[in-house]
Amino acid sequence: MGSRWQVEKKRDPYYKRAKNEDYRSRASYKLLQLNKKFKIIKKGNKVLDLGAAPGGWSQVALERVEEDGMILAVDLQRMKPFTEENFHSIRGDFTTPEIQEAISSKLEGKANAIISDASPSLTGIKNLDHLKSMDLFENVMDICYNHLAVNGNILIKFFQGEKAQELIKANKKKFRTFKTTKPASSRKKSSEMYLLGLGYKL
Ligand SMILES: C[S@@+](CC[C@H](N)C(=O)[O-])C[C@H]1O[C@@H](n2cnc3c(N)ncnc32)[C@H](O)[C@@H]1O
Repeated sequence: MGSRWQVEKKRDPYYKRAKNEDYRSRASYKLLQLNKKFKIIKKGNKVLDLGAAPGGWSQVALERVEEDGMILAVDLQRMKPFTEENFHSIRGDFTTPEIQEAISSKLEGKANAIISDASPSLTGIKNLDHLKSMDLFENVMDICYNHLAVNGNILIKFFQGEKAQELIKANKKKFRTFKTTKPASSRKKSSEMYLLGLGYKL
């Protein structure tokens, strides 16, 4: 008998589906479900994936953009590359100026979609994890303002808490649609939530 976490993982229908359908992570279904509903990523898009390892979201994005688009994935962790020529990756911390410069030069122009499922290393202390995730969120928003094309879309994970509303309010006017959402595949007991921004207005 494994640990409680291992038992839960084995019972999780999305974990099983990811194994059967050859997705790198169960997180793929979160992007599949949200993209089906909101059309965040389209054929031919250039997509920046921040906090991308092991690559479940990049995999879904690659399927959506097809060969005319391109994916640039960034993560602290080493990520197994995809064989597609339009997939590029950078290993490092996207909150640092060096990695932000590397993003600028590899992206070559603006991205049509910026997606981030980045998680800070979690402590289990709810408010501290919320604040750490809002710190990442602010960094992702700065990257969006530097690299998102007009009319572009964003999807960013954060952990719920008191600072979230303040940050959502501060960025709301820059997008045609700006709201929070939670896909069916996100565990109900998790405080994770996704911020969706459609139609960047500059
Ligand atoms: C939940 S995982 C992402 C899962 C991914 N969306 C997928 O579908 O496979 C969160 C990732 O965020 C990355 N991360 C957290 N902070 C980061 C940072 N400052 N720079 C780069 N990556 C970061 C972690 O290394 C981790 O791999």
